Amino acid sequence: MSRKVRERLEYNEKRIERRDKMLHHDRANERATVEEVFDQATRLVVFSLLNAGVLYEVNGVVSSGKEARVYWGKNRADDDLAVKIYLTSSAEFKKGILKYIEGDPRFKNVRRDTRSLFAVWAQKEFRNLEEARQAKVSVPKTIAVKSNVVVMEFIGKNGESAPSLKEVLPENPERVYKLLVTNIKRLYQKAKLVHGDLSEYNILMWKNKPVIIDMSQSVSIEHPMSNFMLTRDLTNLNRFFNKLNVNTIPVEELQKQVVGK
Ligand SMILES: Nc1ncnc2c1ncn2[C@@H]1O[C@H](COP(=O)(O)OP(=O)(O)O)[C@@H](O)[C@H]1O
Ligand SMILES: [Mg+2]
Repeated sequence: MSRKVRERLEYNEKRIERRDKMLHHDRANERATVEEVFDQATRLVVFSLLNAGVLYEVNGVVSSGKEARVYWGKNRADDDLAVKIYLTSSAEFKKGILKYIEGDPRFKNVRRDTRSLFAVWAQKEFRNLEEARQAKVSVPKTIAVKSNVVVMEFIGKNGESAPSLKEVLPENPERVYKLLVTNIKRLYQKAKLVHGDLSEYNILMWKNKPVIIDMSQSVSIEHPMSNFMLTRDLTNLNRFFNKLNVNTIPVEELQKQVVGK
């Protein structure tokens, strides 16, 4: 190892130590969660994002799911960020991932070991969000992706994420339904993607508009399961809005509209 490299590593180690302390400054009840999710490799990923200046700090846990944890972070300009970290400990999840990746032409040449799979999963979410955004679908802006960590715009304020449709009923459900249908059409026709896990849990209400999140499982319309997934998404959507007495478009007709036939 050259002296230069060693110096650089030592320098990094020191920064890491400092950041490490900061990361552990979280409230006591959050500490355990932070330590649990940050296995050594993941910690290095977070530190490298801190070193690269993408992140300035990582604060509390916003959401703790089976497959991923979402943290509230900030950049140097004090903007809120969402840091989604896929849990490398979830074995069942690994099996699930393969199913989605295998039919997607964009991920033909990926390695199949656990760490790579999680990286692909995070890349997939990043890319899907990006493609959705280019198609003018209302999704969080992407900021960075590295290994199993995705950094994106924070939907909400001061570390409190915007409520999901599950948590807060929209004031004007007809309008929200229409907006969602428009978004799903754009996603299909322009981004050529199907969300695949659309439900009231993955739609946040922010500034009176729905924002669609959680796109790691979204698939290209070429995927053999894409039609099935679209039907399921639209069925979920209608089920939710029917309960709110919205005059929904029957799924079959809606699917035709989305596909553009
Ligand atoms: N960009 C974001 N801004 C604010 N909160 C977010 C963001 N992304 C996710 N969250 C919060 O984290 C929760 C879980 O995120 P999600 O992407 O749905 O992951 P999971 O796979 O765990 O369902 C969301 O319900 C929301 O509360
Ligand atoms: Mg979700």
